[in-house]
Amino acid sequence: MGIVNNLHCPKCAHRATSRIEFQCPLCRSILEVEVEIGHLTRADFQAMRQSRDRSIWRWFDFFPVEDRSCIVSLGEGSTPLINARRLGERVGLANLYLKNDTVLPTGSLKDRSNSVGISKAKELGFTTTTVISTGNAAASVAAYSAAAGMNSVVMVPAGTASSKIIQARAYGASVVVIDGNFDLEVAQLYKAAVKEFGWYDCLSSNPYREGKKSYAYELVDQFDEQLPDWLIHPTAGGTGIYAAWKGFNELLSLNLIDRAPRLVVAQSAAAAPIVDAFEKNLAEIVPVVARQTVAESIQVGNPASLGWRALAAVRESRGSAVAVNDRETLEAQYLIGSKAGIFAEPAAATSVAAAIKLRKLSVIGKDDVVVCNLTGHGLKQPESIPITERELQPIAPTLDALREKLRKGDVDV
Ligand SMILES: Cc1ncc(COP(=O)(O)O)c(C=O)c1O
Repeated sequence: MGIVNNLHCPKCAHRATSRIEFQCPLCRSILEVEVEIGHLTRADFQAMRQSRDRSIWRWFDFFPVEDRSCIVSLGEGSTPLINARRLGERVGLANLYLKNDTVLPTGSLKDRSNSVGISKAKELGFTTTTVISTGNAAASVAAYSAAAGMNSVVMVPAGTASSKIIQARAYGASVVVIDGNFDLEVAQLYKAAVKEFGWYDCLSSNPYREGKKSYAYELVDQFDEQLPDWLIHPTAGGTGIYAAWKGFNELLSLNLIDRAPRLVVAQSAAAAPIVDAFEKNLAEIVPVVARQTVAESIQVGNPASLGWRALAAVRESRGSAVAVNDRETLEAQYLIGSKAGIFAEPAAATSVAAAIKLRKLSVIGKDDVVVCNLTGHGLKQPESIPITERELQPIAPTLDALREKLRKGDVDV
């Protein structure tokens, strides 16, 4: 079973006195949860690999949940690892793999985190969860709360398009629209509400949301321990890259692997504070004001206190951090769709855009084994695919009309 030690601060070594204290009272860092894994053997790990349960819960012993009866699962995990040969050929990478997290239950990587986070909420006895989000996190928290039999409250700033909150509503979430700026008033009200009403905080500042460590375990399993050279992850707050690194380090500490992949943070150039800090060799992340970008789901200018851990993961793994602009992102999205058959949202496509860029710069060699995480489904943001009036113009139901369309070059055959 996962034996959970106290929460502690990775910066100033403060140890929490309560299991629901998420932030260090001394230095404001997000606390870190420690799961005792020292007793796990290679045989234990092999048994997990062979488990009939293909969800992330086959790695139960690595997660900060102690009571199996509290597990809230929608079958998340074991997402396809696709050898994208046609896409690889097009971009000069002989060994390009796509980790297709678009097929997760609510269509994004957030399900890995929330399955663990909300299982923990159940174990701790919470009945209501909450999050501020306009997109993937809201939908995922709502779905897992529904499955757990909990209420969920999703806070969004006024002006958020209803299309963004429909998925959360579909899972029964209460949506509270707040008149104010997302990073200021909405965030402040969120914190105050968590304190006042005792709701379970599902933001990335919740240390129990460790489900993305499963990227490490799944890749070891899917590559049969022959790990890739590079793992590229679309990044906002830095949870994913940091959790993957933590997972690989756990496996290294157990001597189950002898090296980890080099980790790459992919960000939108409109919101790239981690890339900035990497390029300027800074010790801390300097928050930026995020500009508008097509990569909406990773439009985060202030990764708060997980950013430096993501940066450390990149440095320790001898990886890299790359910003891509909207043109590069949409080009990658199109290539992923048309060469690999996967519809990824633009934020997710930044991993492939970053791979293309690093290949052009010769940072990644043509024969290197590269995994790009595709973290969100394209149907989350369908308007990112342009469709012209001309394409939508109906034709008469005759072969002649179809011949004419072909003659005009309007059909690729
Ligand atoms: C589609 C998608 N990709 C990637 C991320 C990156 O998240 P993080 O940096 O917290 O792992 C997010 C969420 O913020 C997202 O919605």
